Amino acid sequence: MPLKVEPQNLPHHVAIIMDGNGRWAQKKGLLRIQGHQEGVNRLEELIEVVPDYGVKYLTLYAFSKENWNRPKLEVSFLMNLLSTYLDLKLKKFHEHNVIFNFIGNLNDLPSLIQEKMKRNIEETKKNTGLVVTFAISYSSRLELLQACRKIAEKVAQGVLTPGDITEEMISQHLYTANLPDPDLLIRTSGEMRISNFLLWQISYAELYLTDKFWPEFTEEEFAKAIQNYQKRERRFGLTTVNPAS
Ligand code: IPE
Ligand code: IPE
Ligand code: MG
Repeated sequence: MPLKVEPQNLPHHVAIIMDGNGRWAQKKGLLRIQGHQEGVNRLEELIEVVPDYGVKYLTLYAFSKENWNRPKLEVSFLMNLLSTYLDLKLKKFHEHNVIFNFIGNLNDLPSLIQEKMKRNIEETKKNTGLVVTFAISYSSRLELLQACRKIAEKVAQGVLTPGDITEEMISQHLYTANLPDPDLLIRTSGEMRISNFLLWQISYAELYLTDKFWPEFTEEEFAKAIQNYQKRERRFGLTTVNPAS
């Protein structure tokens, strides 16, 4: 059973900016890459337990478009970690009825990784449990830019007029077209910024920021985030008591 969590007001979709691997490692006198390795362990634990908290969608910021500019060695370690992860976790995802999903400018990735992603999507698409979406080579601004271009092309072809463009249409042209908007956005490591993650989609998400580094984000920390979320009043611009009349 979930740790001390009531069954009411649970988030359907949780998005996480998994930050602080490097600083966690530094604090322990380890290499940054050891922080990334330990981060994968937390990820694995969470994927197993979040369905117990009513979560159906888990979206994880794993590698940003900007992260390509890190030192070559760190980038290649992360790519190797991802490649191995895609092989090793396929069986486990099946055992837990989990669906693999990816968002981002995936063409930037080495073709072998792209193939493994396609394989994992294909092989888990019939599962019915948690949808785990990894944001990789992801930039929210680029996602919006690409959506604008796709819509503009339809206008140029005369399929649409500018007046036909709706919020729903924009959502449908994002990488996240098949996902509901996140209810809760968690960021670890004490940073208070969004770092180009899901800018459109988090318009009304509740934010939970913790000083814990990602490798310290255990189920207990997740449960604290959920408890905190449950105390929030999501008003969506309305008032607390909102008479219909
Ligand atoms: C998050 O941890 C993982 C990635 C961005 C790939 P960081 O690597 O950003 O760790 P810090 O923030 O430098 O401590
Ligand atoms: C955001 O973390 C990206 C991921 C967690 C994958 P960063 O470490 O790249 O963000 P900044 O540089 O602190 O904003
Ligand atoms: Mg960071």
